Amino acid sequence: MSALEITGLRRVYQRKRGDPLEALRGIDLVVPEGEVHGLLGPNGAGKTTLCKIVSTVLLPTSGTVRVLGHDVVTDTAGVKSSLGIVFGGDKGAYDRLTARQNLTFWASVYGITGTRRRRRVGELLERVGLAERAEEVVGGFSRGMKQRLHLARGLVSDPGVLILDEPTVGMDPVAARDFRALVGELRGGGTTILMTTHDMAEAAALSDRVSLIDQGRLVMTETPETVGDLVSAYERVDARGVPERVREQLAVLPGVVSVTGTGGGLTRVETEAPEATLAVQRALVDAEVRDVSLSRPTLEEVYLHLVGGRGMGVDP
Ligand SMILES: Nc1ncnc2c1ncn2[C@@H]1O[C@H](COP(=O)(O)OP(=O)(O)O)[C@@H](O)[C@H]1O
Ligand SMILES: [Mg+2]
Repeated sequence: MSALEITGLRRVYQRKRGDPLEALRGIDLVVPEGEVHGLLGPNGAGKTTLCKIVSTVLLPTSGTVRVLGHDVVTDTAGVKSSLGIVFGGDKGAYDRLTARQNLTFWASVYGITGTRRRRRVGELLERVGLAERAEEVVGGFSRGMKQRLHLARGLVSDPGVLILDEPTVGMDPVAARDFRALVGELRGGGTTILMTTHDMAEAAALSDRVSLIDQGRLVMTETPETVGDLVSAYERVDARGVPERVREQLAVLPGVVSVTGTGGGLTRVETEAPEATLAVQRALVDAEVRDVSLSRPTLEEVYLHLVGGRGMGVDP
């Protein structure tokens, strides 16, 4: 059995003003048990909408979603007992209660009581590295500590599937690294994890497979290595004072994706292979253009190339 089975999933938001907004436009995705699946996409891509539907917070407009065999529409109780959810941000914990009291409360919500509850809460505090701070009120916790508490909360029912929606958003780099290490420890423990992020490095570090989502569509599902290669293959050469004749030469070099800008001002050349970047630089040197700099496009820009390049079309 698959941990997640998503077929033809669409979600339309009816807005008070303006046209209905189609946030998910037909998503198909199967995640086998035990996989850590990264859902990578820019803001507004539909990641949170997908997480909310999987965790029964939001109903699909059409299509089906099954979590460990349970349908999110017809068997919400089954789904809820199969998964844990951790959303980003620091809302949700009771600031005036201690870490242990918060977890004890959440365990009660799941019907865990008595000695079992005490043991489970102790284990989880240990597991997320909060054992020494367990008796402190959560109001004084850093963002990273709060998020570790949220992770413990997501694990309280020992779920088969864990949904992490931008779990490190707003954290400082050290806290984010610690949090990723923690998620890394859950890998291989049998828990299936669906983790959204707009951070390529985060997705690559943790995931067995990564799906790119853009404007409500899955652009591709690949191993992080493949996605990383695709993204890092794209480069950008900016140059000033490139004569029109040279611009025309650059445009027809193999591996050059686009040449934009004006002859007098900034010319931007985008390439999709390191050899192409070298060829562009060589041509610029030959033309005695001195003002040249290299950069990488953002992930979002690469998405656009990939979406366009695969002819999947983006509705306006
Ligand atoms: N409650 C809502 N009502 C109307 N539109 C929404 C609502 N929630 C999200 N959207 C829109 O749906 C799209 C997808 O949003 P979201 O799922 O939050 O994307 P992501 O998590 O990838 O940033 C966006 O265009 C967003 O503005
Ligand atoms: Mg989101």
